Amino acid sequence: MNGYHSAVLLEESISGMNLKKNGIYVDATLGGGGHTLKILESNQNLQVFAFDQDEDAIDYTSKIYEQYSDRLKIFNDNFSNLRTRLSLERIKKIDGIIFDLGVSFHQISNPLRGFSYQHDGKLDMRMNKSEKISAYDIINKFPYEKMRTIFFDYGEERESNKIAREIVESRKKKMIRTTGELSEIIEKSIRSHQKLKAKARIFQALRIFINNEINVLKTTLNDAVNILNPGGRLAVLT
Ligand SMILES: C[S@@+](CC[C@H](N)C(=O)[O-])C[C@H]1O[C@@H](n2cnc3c(N)ncnc32)[C@H](O)[C@@H]1O
Repeated sequence: MNGYHSAVLLEESISGMNLKKNGIYVDATLGGGGHTLKILESNQNLQVFAFDQDEDAIDYTSKIYEQYSDRLKIFNDNFSNLRTRLSLERIKKIDGIIFDLGVSFHQISNPLRGFSYQHDGKLDMRMNKSEKISAYDIINKFPYEKMRTIFFDYGEERESNKIAREIVESRKKKMIRTTGELSEIIEKSIRSHQKLKAKARIFQALRIFINNEINVLKTTLNDAVNILNPGGRLAVLT
């Protein structure tokens, strides 16, 4: 565990990647760099290209992994730009790529990022802070129908209609600004013992929509498969 994030399935995922001595690897979701470090340490000749759209991850890893800068290149970018970024580096093929999806411990535990119903903070949830639409915009400006669809499609929340309706009623009285306020509204809108699960599902749905997670993953997985060398490995941790 570094202070930023504790990499999951570290040994399993890296051993499954079957790392080659002089291989070229991509860490699509750098975070605190746990997987990247493990790959770099496996052999001194191997190269890593790492992506993260969150500048907090870049600030953290750029400093602590400076000693690897001759064979580690970090991009503050969405992994959907992988092909362009690699071709600018004159890399046509890679030997492996890892996607460790979701949010980092740093993101989920920081109330200022607004990812969690467990920490009261500003409604946000953008991994890339320069994206235009945040959770605040959806909750305060999106019409009922659009909100309901997001909750249902990305959170599979059965009570999506009740929750979206309650949000619309609440925001008529005053803007909904914090994760705490949104949590209370979700709790209020459903009677069942599923309140906690409903909060988790709604927060997940908002995060997936805001960060366009499904579309970006679909296209990038295709791109990744096309640039893998024969025998190359692709690992996805969800
Ligand atoms: C679960 S964490 C990865 C943790 C990392 N494996 C480690 O060992 O610390 C996921 C990271 O991926 C980043 N991320 C998620 N989707 C991304 C995308 N489409 N493009 C670039 N980075 C992304 C997030 O900002 C977050 O820092």
